Amino acid sequence: MKAVHVLNGPNLNLLGTREPETYGLATLADIEARLSALCKPRGIILHFRQSNNEGDLVTWVQEAGRAGEPVILNAGAYSHTSIALYDAIKAAKTDVIEVHLSNIHAREDFRRQSLISPLAQGVILGFGAFSYDLALEAFLARTEAAGNRPYRKQIMKSVGHAQKHPWRRRKRE
Ligand code: DQA
Repeated sequence: MKAVHVLNGPNLNLLGTREPETYGLATLADIEARLSALCKPRGIILHFRQSNNEGDLVTWVQEAGRAGEPVILNAGAYSHTSIALYDAIKAAKTDVIEVHLSNIHAREDFRRQSLISPLAQGVILGFGAFSYDLALEAFLARTEAAGNRPYRKQIMKSVGHAQKHPWRRRKRE
């Protein structure tokens, strides 16, 4: 993974002061700084953006799709309403992890449905600002696992051995 796009929808520019009991005290700049600290040492370019306009999010998803780069998307209220964003994600054919600070299933009924979820590779919600870190960690873990196949092979061998001989210790290779 050379770059990752973190896209934020409407009202997320207000994080820190907006309903802190629901969204926490971290600002969007705090979240960006944390993600940047994870990306920088790995040489990953972070495109971190926010807009209150649906069309901007559509354009940025298209851009990520053209570049074949993954997206972490908190579309805010557009998650529940935007067919335009649904279409953009479908067309982009790039991996999208949907994130929410709050647990949308524990809130008002109108938040329980996300149009984006069926297209997302995964959904992380309810962990406040930490939802973003977890999403990035998921992409990083996948990238690192892909670049580390011999190690994975060794793990799978050990798992196979443990399943066949649950009581026996495996000799060190
Ligand atoms: C949100 C949840 C949405 O329902 C809401 O409209 C937001 C923020 C979240 O991160 O918890 O703006 O996406």
